[in-house]
Order: sequence, then structure tokens, then C-alpha cells
Amino acid sequence: MKISDQHYRTIWRDAQSVCIIDQTRLPFAFAIARLQTHSQMCHAISSMQVRGAPLIGAAAAYGMVLGCQQQADDQTLLMVAEQLIATRPTAVNLAWAVQRMLQQLRAVAVAGRAQAAWALALAIADEDVAQNQAIGQHGLALIDPLATANPQRAVNILTHCNAGWLATVDGGTALAPVYAAHDAGLRVHVWVDETRPRNQGASLTAWELAQHGVPHTVITDNAGGHLMQHGQVDMVIVGADRVTSNGDVCNKIGTYLKALAAHDQQIPFYAAVPTPTIDWQLAHGTGIAIEMRDADEVAYMQGQDDQGQIQRLRVIPHESPALNPAFDVTPARLVTGLITERGIFQPQQLHTLEASL
Ligand code: MRU
Repeated sequence: MKISDQHYRTIWRDAQSVCIIDQTRLPFAFAIARLQTHSQMCHAISSMQVRGAPLIGAAAAYGMVLGCQQQADDQTLLMVAEQLIATRPTAVNLAWAVQRMLQQLRAVAVAGRAQAAWALALAIADEDVAQNQAIGQHGLALIDPLATANPQRAVNILTHCNAGWLATVDGGTALAPVYAAHDAGLRVHVWVDETRPRNQGASLTAWELAQHGVPHTVITDNAGGHLMQHGQVDMVIVGADRVTSNGDVCNKIGTYLKALAAHDQQIPFYAAVPTPTIDWQLAHGTGIAIEMRDADEVAYMQGQDDQGQIQRLRVIPHESPALNPAFDVTPARLVTGLITERGIFQPQQLHTLEASL
């Protein structure tokens, strides 16, 4: 991604440290955090300084590197792996990346593990970037005919949460087709769901679309159905944290409601899904562990006041409890297609993708 004309990834190596863009500071401050231990990486993932399924996969891989730098025997590696996997339960990319690091590092002599780990983590990060680029091209093929059929108006795409650059190492998943279309000169406009309670849409998706110059409008989470009823949404594209082998899509809480409304209005509903996000071991979305986050994320909102100060305000009565499930599952029957790096698949065709891997 380009920020003020400088190219950034969301995570990178600097000497023996790992640097990340601290997403808890966006959109009001662009800050880089430097991590030196696997515990710092665990904190970065659980506090959502880094977030988004592909990015937390890469971050966990780099967490394994930081662990190896401290001590690289089998027992320590297992302990580091367990701590990283425990940070966030829903996105399968995290456990996938940690298991891959663990398996490959065990084949390396202890003395060479730290060096090998840097190379393995970089490979995971580079693969993510390449996958997202391919997703962008496949998704572009869906947007292109809509833009060509109706050149006098923009193609309106609704997205939920943040599945852009910031949720990946670079390029984004759900937003990759949007960037590809915009860069190809097609007229696109994005409806950005604010995505309560943490507002990843309002604070992250809106920020990165603005950085790239993509026309967009932030809407409340409740506005999507109304816009769909009034012909103002041409397609929905979301990301995913885990897709099961039957094509059920687990994504940020609220995605299911968008899929229901899109289905009712016969609007195509796509999930952009790099293959590390597919959990081939799980047959149905009902088996996915849904992360329950702190109720304070619902009880409080954070924002900038007119004097430029970041403020945290309580928005519910002190007497009222709050519940904060972070993800939901959209059943495969509501999903038009899965945009993967290997092409677009209907949910019931996923087995052909599995066979080709
Ligand atoms: O809780 P988050 O911010 O990590 O959740 C992110 C999402 O739900 C994204 O839509 C998903 O990870 C897809 S990422 C390309």
C-alpha cells in the first residue's frame, strides 16, 4: 500500500525486530510499532494492533520467528506456538501459519532455526501478497461487465468490516477487486459498513480507500438492507476468517444479515477467500469457534473530538450488560461465489478446488 507516496506492507522485518502498522491508532494517527519478542506479538494480535485473517496468519509466523530468536528447542517452539494460537480462535489462517512454521522448523537443526524462520515467515507473507493480487484479477472479471453495461454510473459494491490492505500483508482480499477495477479506470463506489463494535469499516476501510482515492461512503451497519431495496447496491464483497469445506463463510459479526438481505434482493454476495482461509477439516460452519470479545467494546466507543483528542465514551447504561460475539456464519446457500486466488467457485464446487491444491 502507498501512504504519502511511500510503499508499505502491514508487517515487515527490520534487523532482528518485526515492524507493524498499529491499527488501533488509525485513522487518526499512522504509527509503527516495533516488536522484539513473541509475547509482544501475542499482545499485538489479541489487542488487534494487527488484525484481519491473512495478516494475523503472517503475524503469527513472525511471532514464531521472534520466539526462535530467544530459544529454538522443540519444547520452546511448541510453547510459543500454543501461545500464538490462543490469541484469536476464529481465523484459521493463524493456526495454519503456526502449524506450517512448526512443521518446517522441526526439520531444521536448532542452531539454524532462527535464520530459517525469517525465510519461512517471509515466504508466508509473500504468498499472501501474490494470492491477493490474483483474487483482485478474478474479482475484476465480475466488476468489469457491470461497469461496461452501465458506463454512466459507478458500480456500487457493499463491503463489511475491513478486508483490505490492512487485513492482509498487502493488497487486501475483498477490496483487491475494487482496487483492481479502480486502477483499471472503471467507475466503482464502495458502501462501507461502519462495523460496530470496533468500527473496522469506518476507521480502517474508509481510511485505506481514501488513501487510494477510491470513491466510498461510510454507512451505518443497519443501512445496507435499505440501500439494497432501492437499487443502490450492485454486489456485496466481504472477506472471510474461515470457510468450511461445504462453503459456509465465517466473517465479522453482521455479515450474515447482509447476506440475507442480498439474497432477498437477488444481489450477488461474494466472499474473497485466499486458500489458507479454507478449513478443509471442518464440514460445516457450526463447528467454528466464535471469538467472544470483551463487552467493553460494545459499551464504549472511541473517537476523536473536535480538539483532536482521542476520547473513549460509554454509550450504554452502567446497569446494562453487553455481549460481544465477534463473528458469524453465513450459510453456503446465501453465497453466490468464493473469489479465490485460483478462480471463482460456487460453494458446492469447493471440492474441485481442494482436489487441485
Ligand atoms: O476482528 P477482525 O478485525 O480481525 O476481523 C476481520 C474480518 O472479519 C475480516 O473481514 C476478515 O478477517 C477478512 S480479512 C481479509
